[in-house]
Amino acid sequence: MTETTTRIRGGTIHTSSGELNADLLISGEKVAALLDPANPVSADREIDAQGKWVLPGLIDLHAHTRSPGYEQKEDFLTASRAAAAGGYTTFVDMPNVEPPTVTVELFEEKRAVANELCIVDWGHFVGPTQLEEIPKLAKAGATGFKFFQVTGGYPHDPRLAIADPARLLETFEAIAETGLLCVVHPFAQTLFESLYHREVAKGRPGDIFTFSDVYTRDIVWRLAVAILLEVQRETGMRMQVVHTHAPGSLRLLAQAKADGVPVTVATDPKYFHLREEDIRSQGARAIPGGAVTTNPDRMAAIWEGLDSGVIDIIDSDHAPHLLEDLTLMEEDPLIGPFGSPHYEHLLSLMLSDVQAGNLRLNRLVHALTEAPARILGLYPRKGALQPGSDADVVIVDPDLAYQPLDGQMECKSNWTPYHGRDFVGKPILTMLRGKVIFSDGEITAEPGYGRYIAGVPQEPAPGRPSDMHPGLHLRPRS
Ligand code: NCD
Ligand code: ZN
Ligand code: ZN
Repeated sequence: MTETTTRIRGGTIHTSSGELNADLLISGEKVAALLDPANPVSADREIDAQGKWVLPGLIDLHAHTRSPGYEQKEDFLTASRAAAAGGYTTFVDMPNVEPPTVTVELFEEKRAVANELCIVDWGHFVGPTQLEEIPKLAKAGATGFKFFQVTGGYPHDPRLAIADPARLLETFEAIAETGLLCVVHPFAQTLFESLYHREVAKGRPGDIFTFSDVYTRDIVWRLAVAILLEVQRETGMRMQVVHTHAPGSLRLLAQAKADGVPVTVATDPKYFHLREEDIRSQGARAIPGGAVTTNPDRMAAIWEGLDSGVIDIIDSDHAPHLLEDLTLMEEDPLIGPFGSPHYEHLLSLMLSDVQAGNLRLNRLVHALTEAPARILGLYPRKGALQPGSDADVVIVDPDLAYQPLDGQMECKSNWTPYHGRDFVGKPILTMLRGKVIFSDGEITAEPGYGRYIAGVPQEPAPGRPSDMHPGLHLRPRS
């Protein structure tokens, strides 16, 4: 049987290495060719992309689908619909669910549920808290591992926390044996608590403003990253550090990369887009707003990190909670949950930074597509638009202006911390393996279309930017 062919005509293809005026010819699930626009070859169907941007489908290494256990907040269907609407074709989800995914049995159960529901390709980072399960989870196809150092209560579940150096060392050794990635949320929990109580003792209210300020203090992140990197140097485990926004952490991570330590760095937009004024108007929805966005030096370090490639990827930390769940945070920030939905507006938010001159478009595309694909060992099957790549595509209308609004979203919780902001540039069509899964505001995929992405064991590969996009010239910032 011959494959159905599709021609995406008239768009500008953007990848990490630059832009190209070319049509995309797709055959079945794969990219068949990049065509000169004058090439007369015909296809079974055409998609008009005149005036639009054509990007590889976005890949997210930080999803919280909330399944199992918290399906009132989100599930695999709603999370993946939101992802598709935001231009994502692949995500990897996190183990802080109920019960946490720390055994092969729980992993298999989760996988069975997702197989029925997920409409994007998906993977799962399992918790490495039971040493004897680590090799078994790897063998069962875990995409990688994830643990937290922040702890207290859900969603920062103490059952998924590892901070003690002896435990870190034995865990890193066991994961290094598997060749898989381990994602870490670094945090110096006891230091944070002490600093927070000191602020309160000085007379500041124990509220979400004080919390946001202390939660994002450089030392709280830098100290944790320093210890993680030292343990990593002993073991060679491939590590990805998330939520990176502290200049002190970036300095340590840049040095480790230069030394060849196999570490990659993720940041997520809420750390450098949510402001103190958003907390005033939105309460806990806008955490961690404030302490980073009000500090020009901290902001400059983040843009610098993204520009130089010290920050490899921008993940979503799509972490939905119901609005009523956030009232607990407002009552007692030390025990309440926070986190926010991000899939549907992340690309538009980041495109506004490109427009503002904070970030180059090809760096953004790299951080959202090629870099995460390389980290998972999937490149160029994913994260690229080359002959033979999966036909995972997002078409963006760069001129479409809109305001994200609560109540108009695919995610179950149906609110956004960017409510009412003005964005320009929006995904209008998403294709996964040759099938349109989102178009004209409608989801067009059936539940279960997504396929599981198993972990690919890799030799430690330092995430130095020069290795990751040799064709790209780094421009000094003026
Ligand atoms: C996440 C959550 O709600 O699961 N919360 C958050 O802070 N965004 C957990 C996490 O990523 O730390
Ligand atoms: Zn986290
Ligand atoms: Zn998270």
